[in-house]
Amino acid sequence: MPSLAARMSRAKPSAIMAVAEKAKRLKAEGRDIISFSIGVPNFLPGDHVYQAVRDALTKDSGQYGSNRGPDALLDAFIKHLEENGLTGYGRKNVATGIGAKHMLYNLAEALLDPADVIVFPTPYWTTYMDIAEILDAKVRLLPCPATQNYKLLPAQLDAALPGAKLFLFNNPSNPTGMVYTKDEIAALADVLVRHPDVWIVCDDIYNRMVFDGIGYHNFVNARPELRDRVIHVDSLSKTYGMPGWRVGFVAGPEVVAQAMVTLNSNHITNVPEVVNAAAVAALSGPQDVPVAKNAEFSAKRDIVLDALAAIPGLVCPRPQGAFYVFPDVAFAFGKSHNGTLIANDVDLCNALLEAKGVACVPGSAFGEPRALRISYTCPTPQLVPGMQRIQEFFAELR
Ligand SMILES: Cc1ncc(COP(=O)(O)O)c(C=O)c1O
Repeated sequence: MPSLAARMSRAKPSAIMAVAEKAKRLKAEGRDIISFSIGVPNFLPGDHVYQAVRDALTKDSGQYGSNRGPDALLDAFIKHLEENGLTGYGRKNVATGIGAKHMLYNLAEALLDPADVIVFPTPYWTTYMDIAEILDAKVRLLPCPATQNYKLLPAQLDAALPGAKLFLFNNPSNPTGMVYTKDEIAALADVLVRHPDVWIVCDDIYNRMVFDGIGYHNFVNARPELRDRVIHVDSLSKTYGMPGWRVGFVAGPEVVAQAMVTLNSNHITNVPEVVNAAAVAALSGPQDVPVAKNAEFSAKRDIVLDALAAIPGLVCPRPQGAFYVFPDVAFAFGKSHNGTLIANDVDLCNALLEAKGVACVPGSAFGEPRALRISYTCPTPQLVPGMQRIQEFFAELR
């Protein structure tokens, strides 16, 4: 049998999906499982989205479409950018694809040659590492532990950028939920200005999921001269409760948007027209569902933080966006639960799932083995007992 391409030896299935699969299996076996594992928003989009799909189906919806995306969707996305404070983008600056993941993969393919250096902070969203490894890029990680609130410091960035081709930045963050303030973004933008040979990819997909009035801020508004190097990645998945609809966007320099269109023309061709209709409706229709969900997630964040605050020894920076909490649980390593040694984050998540039926993702999946990730979008009647079970688990450690 002929061999697979060498790059496939570097491709790994998602570590997050492995936990989710185990939780699913235990549930199928009849166990009472509460899952805090997958980063899904757990709500449905508004009725107007479904109505737009029904309407689209009555039209000629089965044809090939534009590789960039239909004008109506490009315009709806440009308006969405403007509402986020990002003005000055036209149709030639934007492109659509099959979710933010696809856009990030395409960007890496368009911007990185093998052995080019990509820089990103850790904790990071797992797929960043996976894409870099498949494409044989060299990863330079910037450790941002809980002691610095999981946030990147300007001096760290400055020291890491010489020789780099691409800086990848995620704000608000998965897995930490941290959100950079206006001043923090401005300080990082000042550093970026000093490194003119580096592309800047901003994975902003949680930009509407920000709490406490902190707001969403970006490098382009902080330092407009960065505009010709900054690429924004966005998605309907989280904000609009549409992860399976698979709609993602980029906005940036014309040459980069055009590269996305060229890549689309060689693999996906286009996002299906009925999905495009749903996307236009989500972006330009009533925003009451995403607004209400954001308020709900902020309240759930508080439930999780209050429960974690009652666990002695646990350290947890306060997240201000997305729907994740990322406590540092290293104080538990070396202890035992019912005779089971907890040597690390993976042991801890396994023991928690086995003993209490609560699924969390080990921090090592995100490059931070001192932590675990709690995704708190489940209904409150599950969230509260789930957090109680986590408290019990830690109280039972010896
Ligand atoms: C930071 C981040 N970027 C991108 C994605 C991918 O989103 P999409 O569903 O649009 O592919 C996710 C999904 O979990 C994410 O958390």
